[in-house]
Amino acid sequence: MQIADLLRYDSSRVDQTLVYILTLGVVDAYRNLGIATALIREVIKYASSIPVCRAVYLHVISYNNPAIHLYTKMSFNCIRRLHGFYLINGQHYDSYLFVYYVNGGRSPCSPLELVTVIVRCMKTGLKSMAAKLMMAKVKWPKGNETRGPVLTPNKRMTHIECSGLEYV
Ligand SMILES: CC(C)(COP(=O)(O)OP(=O)(O)OC[C@H]1O[C@@H](n2cnc3c(N)ncnc32)[C@H](O)[C@@H]1OP(=O)(O)O)[C@@H](O)C(=O)NCCC(=O)NCCS
Repeated sequence: MQIADLLRYDSSRVDQTLVYILTLGVVDAYRNLGIATALIREVIKYASSIPVCRAVYLHVISYNNPAIHLYTKMSFNCIRRLHGFYLINGQHYDSYLFVYYVNGGRSPCSPLELVTVIVRCMKTGLKSMAAKLMMAKVKWPKGNETRGPVLTPNKRMTHIECSGLEYV
């Protein structure tokens, strides 16, 4: 999945852009003085001043706790863990993708979208259940019509149920 998909960003649209923080570092002796915080605030201010900018985003290696703490504290959203994103000395490391939305930019997984997805899944589930029931033969036990029908799965349905094990 591309960054553009993750950020709901369409690079072909001229009315959308993003700001990326490639590197951020503060010399040891000057750490914990609020320098990185101030720099990031400036970047957010800059991004917000561009009307077509939707977000500021960056990657951070998964074990960099001070940086993760900083971005979280500054209200960045961690939207994805990207496996093997960095290759350092021949070794792969995961990264987190952090995003700060500006100018009405929003997460690709807003609560409303989540509800929509759940409802869609439920509808699909109900439809496939109805389809299975339709495929089943309806048999009435002889001489005992009052008991109601007995559903007997047909060959096709048996096949679906068996192969269904593969999807569990
Ligand atoms: C991560 C890094 C950029 C943070 O830089 P920094 O300038 O030390 O960060 P800040 O000072 O803005 O914030 C860090 C801490 O200092 C605190 N702080 C902020 N203003 C402060 C001030 N005036 N006085 C004292 N502490 C302050 C912050 O609150 C925060 O700590 P807390 O949340 O535990 O309280 C720095 O550690 C670094 O360069 N690391 C190595 C490179 C790196 O990992 N870069 C990130 C790559 S994604």
